[in-house]
Amino acid sequence: MGEEAKTAVLMKEERIFEPPKELVDQSNVKAWMDKKGFKTEKELREWCSTNYEEFWGEMANDFADWEKPFDKVLDWQPPYAKWFVGGKINMTYNCLDRHVKTWRRNKVAYIAVGEPVDDVRLFTYWDLYRETNKLANALKGMGVEKGDRVSIYLPMIPELSIAMLACAKIGAIHSVVFSGFSAKAYGDRVKDGESKVSITCDGFWRRGKTVPLKAQADEGIADAPSILKQIVYKRTGQDVPWNEGVDVWWHDAVEGQSATCDPVFVDSEDRLYILYTSGTTGKPKGIEHAQGGYCVGPPQTLSWVFDLKEDDVWWCAADIGWVTGHSYIVYAPLSLGATGVMYEGSPDFPDIGRWWKIIQDYGVTVLYTSPTAIRMFMRAGGEWPAKYDLSSLRLLGSVGEPINPEAWIWYRKNIGADKLQIMDTWWQTETGTFINSPLPITPLKPGSCAFALPGYSCEVMDEKGTVVPFGEGGNVVITEPYPSMLRAFYKDPDRYMKTYWEYYWENHPGYYLAGDKARRDDDGYFFIQGRMDDVLNVAGHRIGNSEVESACVSFPDVAEAACIGKPDEVKGEVIIAFCALNAGVVGTDELKTAIYKHVGKELSKIAAPSEIHFVADVPKTRSGKIMRRIIKAKAMGKDPGDTSTLANPEAVDAIPTIV
Ligand code: PRX
Repeated sequence: MGEEAKTAVLMKEERIFEPPKELVDQSNVKAWMDKKGFKTEKELREWCSTNYEEFWGEMANDFADWEKPFDKVLDWQPPYAKWFVGGKINMTYNCLDRHVKTWRRNKVAYIAVGEPVDDVRLFTYWDLYRETNKLANALKGMGVEKGDRVSIYLPMIPELSIAMLACAKIGAIHSVVFSGFSAKAYGDRVKDGESKVSITCDGFWRRGKTVPLKAQADEGIADAPSILKQIVYKRTGQDVPWNEGVDVWWHDAVEGQSATCDPVFVDSEDRLYILYTSGTTGKPKGIEHAQGGYCVGPPQTLSWVFDLKEDDVWWCAADIGWVTGHSYIVYAPLSLGATGVMYEGSPDFPDIGRWWKIIQDYGVTVLYTSPTAIRMFMRAGGEWPAKYDLSSLRLLGSVGEPINPEAWIWYRKNIGADKLQIMDTWWQTETGTFINSPLPITPLKPGSCAFALPGYSCEVMDEKGTVVPFGEGGNVVITEPYPSMLRAFYKDPDRYMKTYWEYYWENHPGYYLAGDKARRDDDGYFFIQGRMDDVLNVAGHRIGNSEVESACVSFPDVAEAACIGKPDEVKGEVIIAFCALNAGVVGTDELKTAIYKHVGKELSKIAAPSEIHFVADVPKTRSGKIMRRIIKAKAMGKDPGDTSTLANPEAVDAIPTIV
């Protein structure tokens, strides 16, 4: 049991954005409510979450095709859950085979936009099906069998999806590593997972130049004895080093392979993938996800939250190297038979209008992105999206970190024509699907991820496992299992127990500690305050870093902010803010005073930074998370450790040492 879990509540959001009637009336979730006779959203959420076994049993049959029906919805022996026990299923069958038997055979599955302008490839379901089968057959020929691991190190090209689907088709477990990670990061993950095959490419496009990947993959697998073969996709045509006997070109591997491949129907609990996520310390954790749960949770949440329809053009602008891409670029949209955009390159190539041009060119209807991306676009200015026709959009989304109300409002106004609803989805690599999120029927509050979705149970609790009253903050705790939840840490049951379950085990075995802090307002709306280990403690007030950062960013000249706590004899900690300013703004002492006053007014005097430093950029991970631990180490004159996995390692060097 930990130290006191409660957090102070400083920020109050009063604005409410009601969903337009047309959105509500045509929504997927409303249709289900009407069918079931639910009158209100509250009633819907409560019934589904209370009767979650019955609910998920129904969803499992609505959203997935089972080779053999399950006998039992759930077997829950905390901390291990088994879903859809006795069922046999295949994820790729659900994503491809079942669609090619219908009119969707020639429906576009992916609009694959390469970074070079005009490099666009359309993949129908039939194309994906055939390419996946060929690769699956090639993998089989290399000796890959059910349960074997395959490491995938590819950029944002459709071949990455194909590689994942090929693994799942034959019951092999993929382990995708983000292509921006280093050779060492790749190698560590290949070795931990003991993969038989590595799949990579020669290189990819980034800001108009080719970035080599093959040499890095080689370095990663150099001392990985489990690797039998490496498949290399030719993307850029650049020269690559070649290891005879190990390397095989993708086009050679699939040459002559049959375009049909029988799916290996696996037990519902057989693993679909491992995805490594970094913990606060040490070695990355290999999160394991199961086939059966994944055939249900991702498509169900995408259908209800983003309301996907047959004619939507969905764009989840994440990278498949993260869970967001696994669930919402690959498995959920394909399972629903949707059309999705996939973009290879940088948002500022050839200029910062690229995303808006993609939306215009392909008539994107639903856009899902991150607060970091939104703040970057804010910084560039509303004149960029204004140059393009974004009128095809009908719904927006956000994920990855708390979205500060300032960015939320900008997003709605500049991208959403001042009328589109924003689904702020809170979830994790571990959860596989959204947990807390608005629905198209939900009145929104900027910066809030609303409530636990139907079928999910999430609370804000103190350190004893008691729900804190509305209006107060504490730990985010998931109290019941759900189909897409993580099943284990690869080869590390002790750490699995310790990281998530131990905290509440004594009184509440089965309560999952998410590691985030949140508060709920008087109406029960969740406002995520950031990671537990990021919480500041100023004069006995526990304050979420993200709340202070959000207040800094709501000052007009500030583009991004990172806040850390500096030990202080009197107050325990004082707040140090590092602010990146909008283009052209000069950092002066007057400006510091103005920001200081602004934060004091927005939040409270105790939350006003005692020092403000102007920096060119804030250090972030590739998935856009502010790396406060690294910033803090640098500022405190300590070794910031390995910064190679950051999006902008040079930003760390620019952090001044302040002690
Ligand atoms: O702190 C929360 C933050 O991202 C963490 C999960 O990170 P990861 O496993 O990399 O998955 C990111 C994509 C799902 C959470 O513990 N986070 C994610 N979404 C939100 C968020 N914080 C606030 N609001 C969100 N919508």
